Amino acid sequence: MHKDQAAALRVLASKAAPKRRTNQHCRVIVVASGKGGVGKTNIAVNLALAWAKRGLRVGILDADMGLANVDLLLGLNPRCNLSHVISGERTLEEVLLTGPGGLKVIAGGSGVAELADIEQQQLDRFIDSLAQLDKTLDLLLIDTGAGISRTVLSFALASDEVLVVATPDPTSLTDAYGLIKVLAMRNHHAVLQVIVNMCDDDRSGWEVFNRLYSVSRRFLSRELSFAGHVPRDPMVQRAVRELRPFYLVYPRCKAALAIDRVADQLLKRDEDREEAKPKAANGVGGITGLFRRMLHLIKQ
Ligand SMILES: Nc1ncnc2c1ncn2[C@@H]1O[C@H](COP(=O)(O)OP(=O)(O)OP(=O)(O)O)[C@@H](O)[C@H]1O
Ligand SMILES: [Mg+2]
Repeated sequence: MHKDQAAALRVLASKAAPKRRTNQHCRVIVVASGKGGVGKTNIAVNLALAWAKRGLRVGILDADMGLANVDLLLGLNPRCNLSHVISGERTLEEVLLTGPGGLKVIAGGSGVAELADIEQQQLDRFIDSLAQLDKTLDLLLIDTGAGISRTVLSFALASDEVLVVATPDPTSLTDAYGLIKVLAMRNHHAVLQVIVNMCDDDRSGWEVFNRLYSVSRRFLSRELSFAGHVPRDPMVQRAVRELRPFYLVYPRCKAALAIDRVADQLLKRDEDREEAKPKAANGVGGITGLFRRMLHLIKQ
């Protein structure tokens, strides 16, 4: 191959591959909504697959204690969850499942609620295993359940980054605003990003975001970023019925193309932020930092 051609290819490849974070901590994004059934799990799973396709090492923690949706969508059947790690019955590696695209999946079970009552020695061991996970993943998405329960809130309040899922439905907007309000008051450092799901077109996606943006600015003095929108797409429902992620089975469907745009947008934001501010806003970063802050909140 000609020397110039090889150099050009190297430049292209370096542009295509997303940058891994320079510090050893994993980027953690909590996906939450307030209202249930707005598409959190579908967005988390398919976004994770889009990032895995881009060469990132991605994990999903299913923190929805009610329904193990993530596993279902990925065709996995976890027998153990975070509770077993906390109790010491299993190591974190033992409960990690590998899904399509090399995705690492951790079932949360009732683990988080149990954290409040464990002894210091057990806790130290658990935090140590999280530190290992911090080194092996670039990105962890935490899928939370419906509503603003104590568990959902403790994740969202402890996170440096929350992806709020809203739909054009007025009750979803009210609930998303309710969540943003709690975060604005109690998690001052978090970057709040909004994704609008199940909208008719680009315009309605922007409209929904702008409504949330203007009330948040006006009444909470809090800025929100727009992560993008995912249109209502019958292929999403079809894929759910087939128990497969739409990003894999219908990669050219409207929703999958939108997920690609959101995935790139969120990666670009992070690179811009890292350049401007290399340290985590809340002090200790990554998965370890998030769980330490959560413990602090739970024990309060
Ligand atoms: N973009 C979309 N287009 C069409 N249907 C969608 C879309 N996103 C989600 N859905 C539908 O909404 C249903 C609920 O989605 P999902 O389970 O991801 O929501 P959720 O917010 O995780 O729910 P929960 O709060 O119960 O955990 C899906 O089964 C699917 O049928
Ligand atoms: Mg869900």
